[in-house]
Amino acid sequence: MQADIGLVGLAVMGENLVLNMEEKGFTVAVYNRTHSVVEKFVNGRGAGKKIIGAKTMADFVKSLKKPRKVMIMVKAGAPVDAVINEVLPLLEKGDLITDGGNSLFTDTQRRVKELEPKGIHYMGSGVSGGEEGARHGPSIMPGGSKEAWEIVKPIFTKISAQVEGEACCRYMGTDGAGNYVKTIHNGIEYGDMQLICEAYDILRTVLGMSAKDMQGVFADWNKGELDSFLIEVTSHVLGAKDEKTGGALVDMVLDKAGQKGTGKWTLQSATELGVVASTINAAVEARILSALKDQRVAASKILHGPKDVKFEGDKDTLVKSVHDALYASKIISYAQGFALFGRAAQEYGWKLNFGDIATIWRGGCIIRARFLNRIKEAYDRNPNLENLMLDPFFTSVLDRAQSGWRYAVATAVQHGVAVPAFGASLAYFDSYRRESLPTNLLQAQRDYFGAHTYERTDALGTFVHTEWPHSL
Ligand code: 6PG
Repeated sequence: MQADIGLVGLAVMGENLVLNMEEKGFTVAVYNRTHSVVEKFVNGRGAGKKIIGAKTMADFVKSLKKPRKVMIMVKAGAPVDAVINEVLPLLEKGDLITDGGNSLFTDTQRRVKELEPKGIHYMGSGVSGGEEGARHGPSIMPGGSKEAWEIVKPIFTKISAQVEGEACCRYMGTDGAGNYVKTIHNGIEYGDMQLICEAYDILRTVLGMSAKDMQGVFADWNKGELDSFLIEVTSHVLGAKDEKTGGALVDMVLDKAGQKGTGKWTLQSATELGVVASTINAAVEARILSALKDQRVAASKILHGPKDVKFEGDKDTLVKSVHDALYASKIISYAQGFALFGRAAQEYGWKLNFGDIATIWRGGCIIRARFLNRIKEAYDRNPNLENLMLDPFFTSVLDRAQSGWRYAVATAVQHGVAVPAFGASLAYFDSYRRESLPTNLLQAQRDYFGAHTYERTDALGTFVHTEWPHSL
């Protein structure tokens, strides 16, 4: 028995991908640095299946059909390089390695440069969907040469999630394009999650709703335009009971978040490329602030919010406004993410297809949502769309949602509830849509103290310096 593909790294994502591949008809070889993990898997979850457990890397490589396909599912960074170095001497020209972890796209670019001259195809394939996705159909974002893509295409398209008969896996572009798309996916995931948390905070703090009440609101929202995996997750979480106290389990969860780095990478790239990613930025910073739990506990005794504010408006109107704020802010976050793709494609020479990206995010991945169909349609209408907000569908949604959006943000501010992602999204909308910004004053200030020159509105292209009055 020879394997169609081999997988290195049997943590839960790796195991589940193997079981998924096997179920779809492929024979899979597996290898793990600690052999007992392989034995446990082939005799346990993998028992009786077309899975070959290899004892050594040499046995593993020998068990693969040519051209050999090796998928790496280990921690991003040095462990990936360690596996590459171990397997490389055993491979021959035409074989392929693909890394399915959350790798930094520049690492993938470096690895492609090192391996392609040796005749080894190298791909960075972002995989999203958590444990469930890996087991039953993830969204896969492969990057590398076109030739390499053709080699893995039959397997990847078969094991990925399928939406309306289409695989949630398409070729993203050369070298690090797949990892880049996955990184931005994660940045957007951070944004979506933070926006949901802000909606939750307004409902519980301003309206005093219980987790159970909010569970109903989110379940309701999941039936409409916000229909998505993360809204569904939220309603399930809010409905879960704590066995110990009998109350809502979410109320017992410590408000202190961790992060593994993909949100930060999104921001680093946005800054580097000069693109605004303010919704994602707010999400990353909200996690950073949340982690300062001890400082916040101490500060809560010293710094006080607004006194004697009581919500006296209509509850249903505020709930509806929070819905609109969530939907509009989400559109802004995706508009920023796709604008980032546009700049990155120019910078790195990738032919990123925005419609394809929206298509493969419709199923399998963490940010899967009905609204991705609307994004796909927008890029079908105009593949060169400069900003998602300018698509007629999204323009009309923003127009319709903005009064509720403003009301929700204003109410939160009045009540001392922080809504950094709602606010940053609204500020982006209000800045982008205005012909005139206060930057005329900024340019004058720069010229005043640094002779940086400025451009006159009545003589574009002409930069002048003024000796501004130093006293009046
Ligand atoms: C996915 C997820 C997954 C993970 C991220 C974010 O697409 O399946 O994005 O990759 O959730 O690494 O994790 P952190 O929130 O810990 O940064």
